[in-house]
Amino acid sequence: MHVLVILGTARSGRMSERVATFVMQRLARLDGVTASLADLGAIDLPNMRERLGRIEPAPSGLVDLGAAIAGADALVVVTPEYNHGYPGVLKNALDYYLKEFTRKPVALVTVSGGGHGGVNCWAQLVTVLVYMGAIVVPKTVAVSRVQDAFAPDGSAVDTAYERRVDAMLAELAWLTTKLRA
Ligand SMILES: Cc1cc2nc3c(=O)[nH]c(=O)nc-3n(C[C@H](O)[C@H](O)[C@H](O)COP(=O)(O)O)c2cc1C
Repeated sequence: MHVLVILGTARSGRMSERVATFVMQRLARLDGVTASLADLGAIDLPNMRERLGRIEPAPSGLVDLGAAIAGADALVVVTPEYNHGYPGVLKNALDYYLKEFTRKPVALVTVSGGGHGGVNCWAQLVTVLVYMGAIVVPKTVAVSRVQDAFAPDGSAVDTAYERRVDAMLAELAWLTTKLRA
């Protein structure tokens, strides 16, 4: 099973990167699972003027990200909450694609510097992903006070996140296995 982790912010100094690193670390512990990271801050995605498949030539980052999404058995989206929504860079990326998300199992991790774990952006992201044909696992992880909960190396200072992320990944793996059968 191959899992693609999408980090949905390009902000300088973003704390969500710690969480994406942590998710990668937890995925690495699972037997039979490989993982890769798609960092939207490191991919050249211009403002969407037309969807992939209607652009010639398409930027290589756009083509590669589409292939990575389509080729993954499952996705984990790690996103901060910005102004009660999810970042524009993530919406811009999503809008390039559609069929790549069809029947794709997806788990969501929302991140906040405050106490609400980014839950306001969760509902918006679910709405968009479900429209795109993704199957979102109900179990989610909402990270509050990310700057205190995670160290710069991605390790969890608040070790409760080990259990929470592992439980979410277990649900994602279960769903992915069922869908493949
Ligand atoms: C443009 C912007 C808007 C934000 N809006 C919210 C918000 O609506 N709710 C919230 O809990 N935190 C908000 N934050 C704070 C983020 O939760 C905080 O920066 C946290 O570290 C996660 O984002 P990061 O990965 O960019 O660091 C906002 C941050 C930025 C940069």
